[in-house]
Amino acid sequence: MQKKIMLEDIVGLDKQKAQIHDFIFLPLIQKELYQQLVKYPEKLKIRKNFLLYGPPGTAKTSLVQALAQTYEVPFTLVQSTQFLNQYVGAGAETMRKIYSNYTGIIFIDEIDLIAQKQKNNSSQKSDDLLIQLLMLLDGVATNYEISTITATNKPEVLDERFLSRIPQKNRLFFPLPDEEQRKKIFEKKLTYVSHNIENLDNIIPLTKNYHGRQIEDLIVEACNIALKDKRTHLTSNDLHLALEEN
Ligand SMILES: Nc1ncnc2c1ncn2[C@@H]1O[C@H](COP(=O)(O)OP(=O)(O)OP(=O)(O)O)[C@@H](O)[C@H]1O
Ligand SMILES: [Mg+2]
Repeated sequence: MQKKIMLEDIVGLDKQKAQIHDFIFLPLIQKELYQQLVKYPEKLKIRKNFLLYGPPGTAKTSLVQALAQTYEVPFTLVQSTQFLNQYVGAGAETMRKIYSNYTGIIFIDEIDLIAQKQKNNSSQKSDDLLIQLLMLLDGVATNYEISTITATNKPEVLDERFLSRIPQKNRLFFPLPDEEQRKKIFEKKLTYVSHNIENLDNIIPLTKNYHGRQIEDLIVEACNIALKDKRTHLTSNDLHLALEEN
């Protein structure tokens, strides 16, 4: 069976984990308490919308996936392009279908493609989609069991109407990992492979500006180098060789 990505697989990002957990997962995990606390959710708009922004490869998608799998909450990942690649009107219809009768998290990636500031030359398609999305976000605000999490690498292009649906506290920045974080990501990823690497001190400074995805790719490349050599263990030398190839 395929091992799922769990919360402990995601290194650091404690503030981001806590904010998403407390706002989205806690009311679902402690449903009865929440129902006593918020007696009339239909009268109180509960805007459980998030925006995750930051450079690529910084665990925006995997963090939410890991939370959803750890707490066993349904998770639907949609790419914005999937709405735009349809005829005018069909994308909005697909979006409505995803939200209808749904419980759980809807993760919309590359939200800037749908929710960009209006330009004179902006297409009818993306305007329709944005309006549909705003309506859906307002419509589901009375249902705490459905949350929309959006992600982008380009927060600066987002439309104000969209942003106004994301409470300030729910706009979470995902930074590039610093040296200490990179070391922890390496250590975590290395637990998934056989290796005899004891010290990463020589490797870490060579990976300045690397994000988590690049660290993962580097380890995979190093594994291929070991495999070519018919070894069943990764060594620091393999990592060095992989780095040289980059
Ligand atoms: N802090 C981290 N801990 C563990 N793994 C990480 C971390 N940061 C990145 N990764 C790994 O890097 C890969 C890329 O992460 P992910 O796809 O979640 O990034 P993203 O921020 O969604 O990127 P994009 O903006 O390109 O969609 C994943 O395999 C993820 O597990
Ligand atoms: Mg992503």
